[in-house]
Amino acid sequence: MSIKVVFGSDLGTTRAIATRIATALNAMPLEITKAQAKDLESCDLLLLGSPTYGIGELQCDWEERLDTLYRADLTGKTVALFGTGDQVGFADSFADAIGVLYDIVTEKGAQVIGFTDAFDYEFAESRAFRDGQFVGPVIDQDNQPDMTEQRIAQWLKSLHSESGLEAVLQTGS
Ligand SMILES: Cc1cc2nc3c(=O)[nH]c(=O)nc-3n(C[C@H](O)[C@H](O)[C@H](O)COP(=O)(O)O)c2cc1C
Repeated sequence: MSIKVVFGSDLGTTRAIATRIATALNAMPLEITKAQAKDLESCDLLLLGSPTYGIGELQCDWEERLDTLYRADLTGKTVALFGTGDQVGFADSFADAIGVLYDIVTEKGAQVIGFTDAFDYEFAESRAFRDGQFVGPVIDQDNQPDMTEQRIAQWLKSLHSESGLEAVLQTGS
């Protein structure tokens, strides 16, 4: 059973979060610049992480390598998403990037697990916000760094409890 953690990061925040998550899952973090479509396909659980840049856009490495994601066969794949953003500076496009990833992977037939509650945030609009929840944990290291560890730990726990994944997460990669 294998888990892949694929991320992009400009300034290191998402890299650190990806490393934290990968370590907890006994997996290796992999930059999107170094990933091949087969890396995304050849795992039981695929985790994708991106900060939001511009106004509501994917991080630039993700933008440049989106073809890798489009090329991968994600039919029936279990995917979990995590994002970083700044709810104060970008309240109208808070963590939009993982909403962008969500739309792509679900259109390609993946099942996204690990939605999180949006309590304790103040934002106006977010493409990551669907049906009252975020599509994955949103880490705001710019404004709420003291909540990061708790948010990640809680999310990892919820991944464990989501049906069918217990075995994957116990085994790691
Ligand atoms: C030019 C610029 C644009 C940004 N745009 C957004 C945005 O639209 N939405 C958002 O939530 N955060 C935005 N951010 C905040 C980053 O997503 C946030 O600081 C993130 O933690 C950076 O991750 P990284 O260190 O992995 O690159 C922006 C930051 C910069 C510098």
